[in-house]
Amino acid sequence: MAEITAVYPGTFDPITNGHSDLVNRATRLFSRVIVAVAVSPQKQPTFTIDERVELAKEALCNLANVEVCRFDSLLVEFVRSQHAQVILRGLRAVSDFEYEFQLAGMNRRLAPQIETMFLTPAEQYAYISSSLVREIVALGGDVAPFVHEKVGAALIRRLR
Ligand code: COA
Repeated sequence: MAEITAVYPGTFDPITNGHSDLVNRATRLFSRVIVAVAVSPQKQPTFTIDERVELAKEALCNLANVEVCRFDSLLVEFVRSQHAQVILRGLRAVSDFEYEFQLAGMNRRLAPQIETMFLTPAEQYAYISSSLVREIVALGGDVAPFVHEKVGAALIRRLR
Protein backbone atom coordinates (compact mmCIF):
# COMPACT_ATOMS: atom_id res chain seq x y z
CA MET A 1 0.00 0.00 0.00
CA ALA A 2 1.26 3.51 -0.87
CA GLU A 3 2.29 5.68 2.06
CA ILE A 4 -0.37 8.39 2.17
CA THR A 5 -0.54 11.15 4.74
CA ALA A 6 -3.86 12.89 5.38
CA VAL A 7 -4.30 16.27 7.06
CA TYR A 8 -7.55 16.74 8.98
CA PRO A 9 -7.97 20.50 9.57
CA GLY A 10 -10.38 22.35 11.81
CA THR A 11 -10.69 24.81 14.67
CA PHE A 12 -11.42 22.04 17.22
CA ASP A 13 -12.90 24.42 19.83
CA PRO A 14 -12.94 21.91 21.40
CA ILE A 15 -12.44 18.47 19.82
CA THR A 16 -15.59 16.33 20.05
CA ASN A 17 -16.24 12.59 19.83
CA GLY A 18 -17.41 13.25 16.26
CA HIS A 19 -13.96 14.51 15.30
CA SER A 20 -12.29 11.61 17.13
CA ASP A 21 -14.54 9.10 15.36
CA LEU A 22 -13.45 10.53 12.02
CA VAL A 23 -9.76 10.40 12.95
CA ASN A 24 -10.19 6.81 14.11
CA ARG A 25 -11.70 5.86 10.72
CA ALA A 26 -8.92 7.70 8.92
CA THR A 27 -6.18 5.78 10.73
CA ARG A 28 -7.44 2.62 8.99
CA LEU A 29 -7.05 4.23 5.56
CA PHE A 30 -3.91 6.39 5.76
CA SER A 31 -0.42 5.64 6.98
CA ARG A 32 -0.29 8.94 8.89
CA VAL A 33 -3.05 11.31 10.00
CA ILE A 34 -2.21 14.87 11.02
CA VAL A 35 -4.90 16.69 12.98
CA ALA A 36 -4.22 20.32 12.05
CA VAL A 37 -5.60 22.79 14.55
CA ALA A 38 -6.20 26.16 12.88
CA VAL A 39 -5.47 29.28 14.89
CA SER A 40 -8.78 30.70 13.44
CA PRO A 41 -8.68 34.14 15.16
CA GLN A 42 -11.84 35.22 13.28
CA LYS A 43 -13.80 32.53 15.16
CA GLN A 44 -12.71 33.99 18.54
CA PRO A 45 -12.28 30.50 19.99
CA THR A 46 -13.16 29.71 23.61
CA PHE A 47 -9.88 27.84 24.06
CA THR A 48 -6.46 29.17 23.07
CA ILE A 49 -4.59 27.45 20.28
CA ASP A 50 -2.30 25.72 22.82
CA GLU A 51 -5.30 24.51 24.83
CA ARG A 52 -7.05 23.19 21.70
CA VAL A 53 -3.92 21.31 20.65
CA GLU A 54 -3.50 19.87 24.15
CA LEU A 55 -7.16 18.75 24.38
CA ALA A 56 -6.96 17.13 20.94
CA LYS A 57 -3.81 15.26 22.01
CA GLU A 58 -5.59 14.01 25.15
CA ALA A 59 -8.67 12.89 23.21
CA LEU A 60 -6.64 11.06 20.55
CA CYS A 61 -3.84 9.64 22.70
CA ASN A 62 -5.00 6.03 22.19
CA LEU A 63 -4.73 6.22 18.38
CA ALA A 64 -1.53 5.22 16.58
CA ASN A 65 -0.09 7.16 13.64
CA VAL A 66 -1.89 10.35 14.64
CA GLU A 67 -0.14 13.68 15.20
CA VAL A 68 -1.69 16.92 16.38
CA CYS A 69 -0.18 20.16 15.05
CA ARG A 70 -1.17 23.81 14.97
CA PHE A 71 -1.12 25.89 11.81
CA ASP A 72 -1.72 29.52 10.95
CA SER A 73 -0.91 29.52 7.24
CA LEU A 74 -2.94 28.65 4.18
CA LEU A 75 -4.12 25.09 4.58
CA VAL A 76 -2.55 23.93 1.32
CA GLU A 77 0.81 25.39 2.40
CA PHE A 78 0.61 23.43 5.63
CA VAL A 79 -0.31 20.25 3.72
CA ARG A 80 2.72 20.73 1.44
CA SER A 81 5.02 21.41 4.39
CA GLN A 82 3.99 18.04 5.86
CA HIS A 83 4.52 16.23 2.51
CA ALA A 84 0.89 15.13 2.78
CA GLN A 85 -1.27 14.23 -0.21
CA VAL A 86 -4.80 14.43 1.16
CA ILE A 87 -7.01 16.94 2.97
CA LEU A 88 -9.60 15.06 5.00
CA ARG A 89 -12.94 16.61 5.93
CA GLY A 90 -16.04 15.29 7.67
CA LEU A 91 -19.50 15.50 6.13
CA ARG A 92 -22.23 15.25 8.74
CA ALA A 93 -25.28 16.37 6.80
CA VAL A 94 -26.34 17.88 3.49
CA SER A 95 -26.00 21.30 5.15
CA ASP A 96 -22.21 20.80 5.37
CA PHE A 97 -21.95 20.12 1.66
CA GLU A 98 -22.10 23.60 0.17
CA TYR A 99 -19.30 25.02 2.32
CA GLU A 100 -17.20 21.87 1.91
CA PHE A 101 -17.68 21.91 -1.86
CA GLN A 102 -16.48 25.51 -1.96
CA LEU A 103 -13.49 24.83 0.31
CA ALA A 104 -12.46 21.75 -1.69
CA GLY A 105 -12.78 23.68 -4.96
CA MET A 106 -10.70 26.61 -3.73
CA ASN A 107 -8.03 24.32 -2.32
CA ARG A 108 -7.90 22.44 -5.63
CA ARG A 109 -7.38 25.71 -7.51
CA LEU A 110 -4.58 26.62 -5.10
CA ALA A 111 -2.94 23.17 -5.14
CA PRO A 112 -4.25 20.82 -7.87
CA GLN A 113 -2.06 17.92 -6.73
CA ILE A 114 -3.71 17.77 -3.28
CA GLU A 115 -6.96 15.79 -3.09
CA THR A 116 -9.78 16.50 -0.64
CA MET A 117 -11.50 13.38 0.68
CA PHE A 118 -14.61 13.13 2.85
CA LEU A 119 -15.67 10.70 5.54
CA THR A 120 -18.96 10.60 7.40
CA PRO A 121 -18.99 10.17 11.18
CA ALA A 122 -20.93 7.40 12.92
CA GLU A 123 -24.65 8.12 13.10
CA GLN A 124 -24.65 9.01 16.80
CA TYR A 125 -22.16 11.84 16.12
CA ALA A 126 -23.83 13.24 13.01
CA TYR A 127 -25.45 16.14 14.85
CA ILE A 128 -22.59 17.15 17.20
CA SER A 129 -20.88 20.49 16.78
CA SER A 130 -18.38 22.23 19.02
CA SER A 131 -20.58 25.31 19.43
CA LEU A 132 -23.61 23.25 20.55
CA VAL A 133 -21.41 21.39 23.04
CA ARG A 134 -20.17 24.72 24.44
CA GLU A 135 -23.74 26.00 24.72
CA ILE A 136 -24.92 22.87 26.55
CA VAL A 137 -22.08 23.18 29.09
CA ALA A 138 -22.69 26.89 29.63
CA LEU A 139 -26.37 26.15 30.38
CA GLY A 140 -25.57 23.37 32.83
CA GLY A 141 -26.18 20.34 30.61
CA ASP A 142 -24.21 17.10 30.50
CA VAL A 143 -21.89 16.65 27.51
CA ALA A 144 -20.33 13.35 28.63
CA PRO A 145 -21.70 11.48 25.57
CA PHE A 146 -20.19 14.01 23.18
CA VAL A 147 -16.64 14.74 24.35
CA HIS A 148 -13.65 13.08 26.04
CA GLU A 149 -13.83 13.42 29.84
CA LYS A 150 -10.82 15.76 29.97
CA VAL A 151 -12.45 17.97 27.34
CA GLY A 152 -15.67 17.98 29.39
CA ALA A 153 -13.75 19.01 32.52
CA ALA A 154 -11.94 21.80 30.63
CA LEU A 155 -15.28 23.07 29.29
CA ILE A 156 -16.79 23.22 32.78
CA ARG A 157 -13.75 25.12 34.13
CA ARG A 158 -13.94 27.60 31.26
CA LEU A 159 -17.69 28.14 30.85
CA ARG A 160 -19.35 27.77 34.24
N1 COA B 1 -17.89 15.83 14.26
C1 COA B 1 -18.38 16.82 15.01
N2 COA B 1 -18.34 18.10 14.67
C2 COA B 1 -17.75 18.44 13.52
C3 COA B 1 -17.21 17.45 12.68
C4 COA B 1 -17.30 16.10 13.09
N3 COA B 1 -16.81 15.08 12.36
N4 COA B 1 -16.71 18.08 11.60
C5 COA B 1 -16.93 19.40 11.76
N5 COA B 1 -17.56 19.62 12.92
C6 COA B 1 -18.05 20.90 13.43
C7 COA B 1 -17.04 21.68 14.18
O1 COA B 1 -17.02 21.32 15.53
C8 COA B 1 -17.52 23.10 13.98
O2 COA B 1 -18.57 23.38 14.83
P1 COA B 1 -18.90 24.86 15.26
O3 COA B 1 -18.86 25.71 14.02
O4 COA B 1 -20.24 24.68 15.84
O5 COA B 1 -17.86 25.23 16.26
C9 COA B 1 -18.11 23.10 12.59
O6 COA B 1 -18.39 21.75 12.32
C10 COA B 1 -17.22 23.65 11.56
O7 COA B 1 -15.95 23.15 11.83
P2 COA B 1 -14.93 22.85 10.71
O8 COA B 1 -15.60 22.16 9.58
O9 COA B 1 -13.78 22.18 11.33
O10 COA B 1 -14.59 24.29 10.19
P3 COA B 1 -13.58 25.20 10.79
O11 COA B 1 -14.07 26.58 10.60
O12 COA B 1 -13.27 24.83 12.17
O13 COA B 1 -12.31 24.88 9.87
C11 COA B 1 -10.70 25.40 8.19
C12 COA B 1 -12.16 25.46 8.63
C13 COA B 1 -9.77 25.63 9.35
C14 COA B 1 -10.44 24.05 7.61
C15 COA B 1 -10.54 26.48 7.11
O14 COA B 1 -10.95 27.71 7.64
C16 COA B 1 -9.11 26.61 6.64
O15 COA B 1 -8.65 25.85 5.83
N6 COA B 1 -8.38 27.60 7.20
C17 COA B 1 -6.97 27.83 6.86
C18 COA B 1 -6.80 29.08 6.00
C19 COA B 1 -7.04 28.74 4.56
O16 COA B 1 -6.36 27.99 3.93
N7 COA B 1 -8.06 29.41 4.01
C20 COA B 1 -8.43 29.25 2.62
C21 COA B 1 -9.32 28.05 2.42
S1 COA B 1 -9.73 27.87 0.73
